[in-house]
Amino acid sequence: MKVLVIGNGGREHAIAWKIAQNCLVEKVYCAPGNGGTHVENKCENINLDKIDDLVKFAKEEHIDLTFVGPEAKLVEGISDVFKAEGLKIFGPSKKAAQLEGSKSFSKDFMKKYGIKTAAYEVFTEIEPALKYVKTCPYPTVIKADGLAAGKGVVICQTVEEASNTLNEFMINDVFKGSGKKVVIEQFLDGVEASILSFTDGNTIIPFISSKDHKQIFDEDKGPNTGGMGVIAPNPYCTVDVLEDFNENILKPTLLGINSEEMDYIGVIFFGIMITKDGTYLLEYNVRMGDPETQAVLPLLKSDFTELVLAAIDKKLSSFNLEWEKGSSCCVVLASKGYPGSYETGKIIEIKPSKGKVFAAGAIYEDGHLKTSGGRVLSLVSIGSNLDEAINNTYEELSSVNFEGAYCRKDIGKLYK
Ligand code: AMP
Ligand code: GLY
Repeated sequence: MKVLVIGNGGREHAIAWKIAQNCLVEKVYCAPGNGGTHVENKCENINLDKIDDLVKFAKEEHIDLTFVGPEAKLVEGISDVFKAEGLKIFGPSKKAAQLEGSKSFSKDFMKKYGIKTAAYEVFTEIEPALKYVKTCPYPTVIKADGLAAGKGVVICQTVEEASNTLNEFMINDVFKGSGKKVVIEQFLDGVEASILSFTDGNTIIPFISSKDHKQIFDEDKGPNTGGMGVIAPNPYCTVDVLEDFNENILKPTLLGINSEEMDYIGVIFFGIMITKDGTYLLEYNVRMGDPETQAVLPLLKSDFTELVLAAIDKKLSSFNLEWEKGSSCCVVLASKGYPGSYETGKIIEIKPSKGKVFAAGAIYEDGHLKTSGGRVLSLVSIGSNLDEAINNTYEELSSVNFEGAYCRKDIGKLYK
């Protein structure tokens, strides 16, 4: 089999690495890939981005399967185009991708199908939105409707902050259209969990849970990032929480997908909030999490490529998904200054390690791996329990280094 993986993050490195483990896979093309996929077993980077070019490549190279990593291409409708050309692709249709591409679409979907989520209002005009935030309870959460590269959610503590946010989103148009419409939502207090899953439209198979660490500094301080580390499974996802999730979130979601005839074959990632009043759905993503994927996939015992093919063949209901017994811990190494401005082009040294290194903002240039982004690498280890996984990862950290490398020292430490 020849497989095409679209994307260039740590997530896509982990996906390509896992797909390559199937003995029937002879080659994994990564478009565009990164410095990690450049050297990964069976992988080759190709410098293509536009959907038309990817279709042409898939046809010419007789690609058997395409896996779409990031959300933007799915929202653009890549799956519909590939399918219309008779190409096998793993990723939801443009219509289904609206579950991530539009917050108001996803909240309306949640409401329609009785999925437990925070109360909300949608606004397309600034005046009623400004009036609303004068009377709503605080903190309150303002969300840009469209894709905003992870920056479209602001938790506002005061009327003034809320009004400023509305002005930035709706008038100053900081997200170039994506914030013209906003969702204003009830604030939920609790702990978050990420539940990645696969669906074939008839069945949703949840993966083991995971816990991201979004803030840049230890003790969950400082600005939000794309994610600084992950542990899996998530210790807060108890049997009771998972039961609540299954009944009040997963099952009605599947009903909705069916009723709306969404043609959903792909990833559905539930971002949930576990509160003292039960488990709420914060958001859907139609792609895998980053860095959740880097922590979760090393624990997957079943063959990942077979799982993807089972979803495409609508045979997930009979797939026996198996996990290793232990835990995993993923720590992200970022460039100094991230998530603000940072320098690139630093040479990355990697010594042999018992952990697995996935590259993200790293390119291969002049015979060296060099930094090219904010989140540069993730290092992942597994262990027979969470403490062992955490220790293993931190012990191996000295095997990777570059000038100004920064990581959180407390991934997996539980504060609540
Ligand atoms: P979202 O893109 O909707 O997941 O929002 C990004 C982040 O904002 C989430 O991971 C939460 O940390 C936070 N967030 C979103 N909605 C809420 C909410 N209703 N209450 C509290 N925090 C929220
Ligand atoms: N790590 C959070 C996300 O991928 O959305």
